[in-house]
Amino acid sequence: MTPPVTVCRVILIGFGAVGRGFATILAQHGERLRRQSAIDIRIVAVATHSRGAVIDPSGIAPDALLAASEQPGGLAALPGAATRAPLDIIRTTPADVVVEATWTDLVTGEPAISHIRAAFAAGMHAITVNKGPAALALRALRDEAAACGRFFGFEGTVMAGTPSLRLALEALEGCAIHQVSGIVNGTTNFILSQMEHGMDYAAALAEAQRLGFAEADPTGDVEGFDAAGKAAILANALLDATLRPEDVARQGISQLGAADVAAAAAAGERWRLIARVWRDGDQVRAAVAPTRLPQSHPLAGVTGATNALTISTDLLGDVTLIGPGAGGVATGFAVVSDILALYRRR
Ligand code: HSE
Repeated sequence: MTPPVTVCRVILIGFGAVGRGFATILAQHGERLRRQSAIDIRIVAVATHSRGAVIDPSGIAPDALLAASEQPGGLAALPGAATRAPLDIIRTTPADVVVEATWTDLVTGEPAISHIRAAFAAGMHAITVNKGPAALALRALRDEAAACGRFFGFEGTVMAGTPSLRLALEALEGCAIHQVSGIVNGTTNFILSQMEHGMDYAAALAEAQRLGFAEADPTGDVEGFDAAGKAAILANALLDATLRPEDVARQGISQLGAADVAAAAAAGERWRLIARVWRDGDQVRAAVAPTRLPQSHPLAGVTGATNALTISTDLLGDVTLIGPGAGGVATGFAVVSDILALYRRR
């Protein structure tokens, strides 16, 4: 007998690369997902800050959303178009999950933190792919979710849909983790890889922006802020720390030029931007820095927007995970993965 299908109504906040990636997955694979999981994921509202909103309680066709977002009029051309603000839509639209996919602010975490709190206040679960809330308020938001019996998913904040946090928190539960290190920023890894093939820095950055890897302000990538935010998330989620992004010793890649890349290559080495969080006695420390690695080092072979993390544990030694770390569909998959985890738990 086929199991009954559960409808999951989603309010999507933000319709940038990740929101569109999530809609693309539903448009192209929604039917398979429904068959595999018996969860029917329906977007019932999309709210953006500057490009309007659309609401349809029966579900908005994801392909229509994608097509409208390509047109000059944007979402306003769709039936159910509205001009209401995201918070208003969260407070008044019946749904099961709010997906926070607006731009990342690693200083205030807003407006994303307010969107998540509004979701809990309205009795909904919340999933963020936005790194601000996870880097700045993870413990508070997890506590608030637990207090109101709601799910708070943040898998997509590190390594996009590659299940780094779930691997550490669930599959490695029972191990003590003492260090996590690796490549957590796709844009800088893409730039460094392209520079190794002779492309100049500015052209490589422009290509990373075109491919949807870079932050809205790519300074966040190249100066290491994005990696520092992810290091704070890793420290807080996996080592039970309370670090803020500014507590992470940080150096980006903007000072690396073609000559540095060539010098490393001549010595049989490659530059990689390495993030590391580790226990140091009672403290947890974190750092992000460009590092020269021998070409034989496993992380030196990680190219493009691919990320890699080595989780160092007591019972299992080192466990290394390599996979996509940026991009619309790769991060949109993290939303799907969190939704499925939410219903598995229930
Ligand atoms: N700008 C980020 C990166 C996106 O390049 O890794 C994924 O968090």
